[in-house]
Amino acid sequence: MSNPTEHTLAVPTLASFGGELSVAVIGASGGLGSAFTAALERAPAVARVFTFSRAAMTPQSAKTAWQSIDLENEESIARAAAMAKGAAGSLHLVIVATGLLHDSEQQPEKSWRSLTAATLQRAFAVNATGPALVAKHFLPLLAKDRKTVFAALSARVGSVEDNRLGGWHAYRASKAALNMLIRTLAVELARRNDRALCIGLHPGTVDTALSRPFQAGLPEGKLFTPARAAGQLLEVLDGLSPGHSGGLFAWDGQRLPF
Ligand SMILES: NC(=O)c1ccc[n+]([C@@H]2O[C@H](COP(=O)([O-])OP(=O)(O)OC[C@H]3O[C@@H](n4cnc5c(N)ncnc54)[C@H](OP(=O)(O)O)[C@@H]3O)[C@@H](O)[C@H]2O)c1
Repeated sequence: MSNPTEHTLAVPTLASFGGELSVAVIGASGGLGSAFTAALERAPAVARVFTFSRAAMTPQSAKTAWQSIDLENEESIARAAAMAKGAAGSLHLVIVATGLLHDSEQQPEKSWRSLTAATLQRAFAVNATGPALVAKHFLPLLAKDRKTVFAALSARVGSVEDNRLGGWHAYRASKAALNMLIRTLAVELARRNDRALCIGLHPGTVDTALSRPFQAGLPEGKLFTPARAAGQLLEVLDGLSPGHSGGLFAWDGQRLPF
């Protein structure tokens, strides 16, 4: 595993966003979501951090507020957006760090023989429909007087062009759907708010509950700690400009094919 120390302590500057930032993390209880939250709480440029998750969380910083959200319940998404709007007026950065690869009810498929309507529907509900509904309620909150970003955690395996291994049908297909939603939302966003970006992120392989059963055989240095992954992705976001909207960006800044 990579040495986490420097990234655990790294303080994101977010210089391209300006200061007094209001940011939101959806899925703050997850491996990446909690690392994003911690990094944003440390950033001097960030004034307010709105965190949302299904399970109750106790904020670790005076900057932070929490409210429940369930991506399979649009009313809870609308209530979350209303809370952030009421407290901050507008937002500068929204990170959707939710996602489903496996849980007690489903595992990623190794063959088409394992496909079921129920597992496909759940993957799409959490990985595509949920982030789309978050966008519906949170994109209108992005400030218009400076650079702002709506970023959803996608995955390289959602790239149609890059798919040579197969497997993980529901996860791949739901992330491909998310990528298309991101591109489509970005086109509309450019007409409404030309300083805002809507993008997808590929974090690399990160040591979280989502990847834990699949880490065997990873080459040395290819498994990031959540703190390192969040730090790398915040640097990527800092380097993007509105012309990048609609794209899928990896942890090293590389633009990935859809
Ligand atoms: N880890 C990796 O190697 C890797 C690689 C590529 C892409 N990604 C992507 O990065 C994102 C974050 O993954 P992670 O590694 O941090 O996984 P994680 O630790 O399993 O976190 C996933 C988060 O999604 C939340 N979630 C699931 N269903 C939800 C729902 N219906 N409503 C609200 N929240 C829900 C979970 O909340 P609960 O705690 O309530 O279940 C959890 O906070 C995912 O989109 C994933 O696909 C991760």
